[in-house]
Amino acid sequence: LQAREPMDNTSRSRQDASAHVLGTIARKRAGELLPARDIKRLIEDFVAGRVPDYQMSAWLATVACIGMEIEETEALTRAYVAGGMSVDLGGVGKRVIDKHSTGGVGDKVSLVVTPIVAACGVAVAKMSGRGLGHAGGTIDKLESIRGLRLDLAAAEVRALVNELGMVITGQSAELAPGDKATYALRDVTGTVESVPLIAASIISKKVAVGAHGLLLDVKTGAGALIQDHAMAVHLAQTMVDLATRFGLDCRAVLSDMSQPLGFAVGNALEVKEALAALRGDSIPGFTELCRVLSRLMLQLALPDLSDAEADQQVSVAVSSGAAHEKFLQWARAQGADAAQLANPDLLPTAPRREFIRADRTGWVESIDPRAIGNAALRVGAGRLVQGAPIDHSAGIVLQRRVGDAVAAGDCLAEIHYDEGDITSAKNLTASAFTLGISQVCVPPVVHQVFGAASRLQR
Ligand code: URA
Repeated sequence: LQAREPMDNTSRSRQDASAHVLGTIARKRAGELLPARDIKRLIEDFVAGRVPDYQMSAWLATVACIGMEIEETEALTRAYVAGGMSVDLGGVGKRVIDKHSTGGVGDKVSLVVTPIVAACGVAVAKMSGRGLGHAGGTIDKLESIRGLRLDLAAAEVRALVNELGMVITGQSAELAPGDKATYALRDVTGTVESVPLIAASIISKKVAVGAHGLLLDVKTGAGALIQDHAMAVHLAQTMVDLATRFGLDCRAVLSDMSQPLGFAVGNALEVKEALAALRGDSIPGFTELCRVLSRLMLQLALPDLSDAEADQQVSVAVSSGAAHEKFLQWARAQGADAAQLANPDLLPTAPRREFIRADRTGWVESIDPRAIGNAALRVGAGRLVQGAPIDHSAGIVLQRRVGDAVAAGDCLAEIHYDEGDITSAKNLTASAFTLGISQVCVPPVVHQVFGAASRLQR
């Protein structure tokens, strides 16, 4: 027998960490409630590199299958935030509101509601993310604008909230490090679609940002992260409960993602549509959702504001041009090219177009948002491989929406592209449309609102 090398401290701590993960997996499978200290230790060990990806994946898969109680989800949220930085907005002297969407196809809502709410005098600090699967991300969309800086340090975030009442930035690496490490793994191990894992992931980032009020836009329908309606309701309720446990005044809206939001899907195309909405264009479904979310954000900051008063402020912010001007001021403050903003035609524009036409006369019965999102991905509007570059000009512009009448040969959608797999994009776009012989009801844009605004303490 050969004498074994004595174990150094690093291997011992790896072995301890490994035994601890296996223990938590076994206890979770046996139906036990995991104590907060165990969850904290697990995330600490993973962030420190003491737990390998394969063991963490097994833990995540166990949680995704079995679920977690709200106390465990709260402990996971705390563990994600621990060891990271937080933006201290306490000194801003105003109530600061944040907004988060669970993601959808054509979801450019943040580009519109943030300046509307800021133009109404309520400060908004918005941390946004990149595209995920078939759904685009606000940061990718905004990167269509030349010069715009989206990697702001905490001090810059505070300064902009103070000076302008509005900031949009990407997530810094130091914010909720536990979530950052875990999310990357979930993305490639099929463990994204879990209510407690999504809730802890989103709320940990919101806690780290430090706003006082939070509006969540939870999507439901074929294009949503969580497609099942009952599960989306559970997600909305869980996030409101969780946010409240962290002292955040939170409301959630369950909004429709059974068809793409607005007409444009793709980065620069969506920025152009958002700018048009800010200039007062009415975009079916999209304009209504922006108005409801803006109203709820105003009421999170000013709980005594009635629906009618809030709606009136939102209308005036758009009709007076104040919201559009706020967007321009904000973008210039974060380095954007003023000429490009003054003339959105200077935003990236694809050199080629393909038209998808109706093969018969009838009514648009449904437009599958996942197929449209995937078609946009195929022409380069998003990433099929992690970290790949994207074509900001590419995407799909719908010419018809659910409930519209069509005649044979009418254009249903335009594909804007340069390179990429145009054949797949065409097939996906054509297959997304279902035409029927009678008119259908258009689903409501807002299904439900959760959580009541209460007077903010901070
Ligand atoms: N967005 C997040 O930030 N986290 C999730 O888990 C899902 C969507």
